[in-house]
Amino acid sequence: MFLNPRALALLLALSISVITTSFLSLIPEVNGVSLIITALLSFSSGYLLIYVILEFLFFKEIRKLYSALNKIRGKDYTSIEIEKEKKSLNPFKKINQEMLAFAARKQGEIEELKKAEAFRQHFIADVSHELKTPIFAAQGFVHTLLDGAVKDKNVRMKFLKKAAKSLDGLDILVHDLLTISQMETGAIKMHSEDFDIIDLTHEVFDQFDNKADKKEIILKLAEPYDAPLLVHADSQRIYQVMLNLISNAINYTKESGLVEVAFIPDENEVTIIVKDNGRGIPAKDITRIFERFYRVEKSRSRGKGGTGLGLAIVKHILELHGTKVKVKSKVKQGSAFSFKLQRVKNV
Ligand SMILES: Nc1ncnc2c1ncn2[C@@H]1O[C@H](COP(=O)(O)OP(=O)(O)OP(=O)(O)O)[C@@H](O)[C@H]1O
Ligand SMILES: [Mg+2]
Repeated sequence: MFLNPRALALLLALSISVITTSFLSLIPEVNGVSLIITALLSFSSGYLLIYVILEFLFFKEIRKLYSALNKIRGKDYTSIEIEKEKKSLNPFKKINQEMLAFAARKQGEIEELKKAEAFRQHFIADVSHELKTPIFAAQGFVHTLLDGAVKDKNVRMKFLKKAAKSLDGLDILVHDLLTISQMETGAIKMHSEDFDIIDLTHEVFDQFDNKADKKEIILKLAEPYDAPLLVHADSQRIYQVMLNLISNAINYTKESGLVEVAFIPDENEVTIIVKDNGRGIPAKDITRIFERFYRVEKSRSRGKGGTGLGLAIVKHILELHGTKVKVKSKVKQGSAFSFKLQRVKNV
């Protein structure tokens, strides 16, 4: 009953009116009509004023507090919105705003934790799945040998080679995973130095000469680039980046394709672009290819022995250089991966 603003206003207005009229009645000159008018006026104005104050400054805010509390109690964080009003002088409004802001912050933290948990579960499932494939393969070959195939000299060599290949794949996978986790924990630091990015690209091209020849893919620089182009970065890690990008460009490009590397220097930076005219990446996959183990064509890449970690490593290395990798791609037309490095002016 007392938490009702109308009843409270009525009581208070009545008391004010009674007190005022009683005091006035003590003055002999004041007649009965004046006393009634005073009583009515003080009651009605008091009632209105007190009701408005109680309702808008007090009860409305308390009701909001209750509804917010109920939502928080019911873990219904989604429907809580932070009031965008400017700072209010009303202390109840302030408490309300702070409580809502606090609940919204907690809501954000809970969502982050849920995401991290989902990521962890996915990651463990992915790692187990990726490890299972080469382990099962190697296990199968070894058991077949133990079950008698070892006596046949030809089969023995063939199976041992296959088991070794599976174990080599496992080794690469574990090594790549370790590299990513060490980069994430900060155990791997970049050791920057000045080096010629054109020279480094030629070295990477040399590595892929055979592979490109087999697929009749042309590997070339977009221009002759006669003068060295110095950049400041960790040369070994950038070598790894170029190796991954160029290897992808060759792997995912049809026979007789073209893989081209371009350098666009400006005042302080050099943009490096690795472009191919291969199969391209569908728009729905483009944001996901930098995730660990993500492959556009799951079965095909795995068949080719890819771990799906190449671009995740590229992304991490470039992030440690304070830069990031961008990609533009069109299905059946090709892809272009680009990133910037700090330029060193030739002296
Ligand atoms: N140049 C490209 N053209 C078309 N698709 C690409 C290209 N580069 C990457 N992709 C797609 O992105 C996926 C992820 O690439 P990423 O390099 O991370 O893994 P991978 O090549 O499958 O294996 P890994 O590099 O570990 O051997 C690839 O499986 C492929 O589907
Ligand atoms: Mg790759």
